Amino acid sequence: MWLAEHGWQATGVDISAVAVSRAEQAARARGLATDRARFLVADLAKWDNDQSYDLVVSSFLHSQGDFDRAGILRATSQYVADGGYLLVISHATFPPWAQAHRDADAKDHHHDETTPESELELLQLDPSSWVLEIAEIRSREATGPEGQVATLQDTVVLVRKTATQS
Ligand SMILES: C[S@@+](CC[C@H](N)C(=O)[O-])C[C@H]1O[C@@H](n2cnc3c(N)ncnc32)[C@H](O)[C@@H]1O
Repeated sequence: MWLAEHGWQATGVDISAVAVSRAEQAARARGLATDRARFLVADLAKWDNDQSYDLVVSSFLHSQGDFDRAGILRATSQYVADGGYLLVISHATFPPWAQAHRDADAKDHHHDETTPESELELLQLDPSSWVLEIAEIRSREATGPEGQVATLQDTVVLVRKTATQS
């Protein structure tokens, strides 16, 4: 929605039909037309899509259960157009209010906290085709479901795909 409000034609993808339905409702409530902000239900581990995009954002790709996080992250890079950007934002530390989920499924590696280095290692980008623009941890204030405020740490990785040589 933020991208659409800043002039992009944005496509949001999530495996959860509930998440997609909520996003659609929120976008329409904000007056965003479907040609500015559209949302798709898809499993990104199997997404069959030959379109390319000027910007691909992976926003907090953390989940429970059987989940090929590395495979999905690598696949996202294939959707970036020449000269376009891939932005990966993930939890460097988890919100204190997410602790119950983590404790309930402590062996789930997909809850692993990230670093710029670990995300770049997962992405396995070809250095001859990608330029690293940002690889850092940033702090932000966030408010949890009970109104509790915490400072969260996010891993931020931004890479640019160089134009293919003809
Ligand atoms: C921590 S939430 C982040 C939600 C949202 N992107 C954000 O930044 O607030 C992780 C999301 O990943 C989605 N997800 C998990 N596995 C997925 C998959 N295979 N394909 C697409 N989305 C997936 C979940 O449904 C969930 O909405």
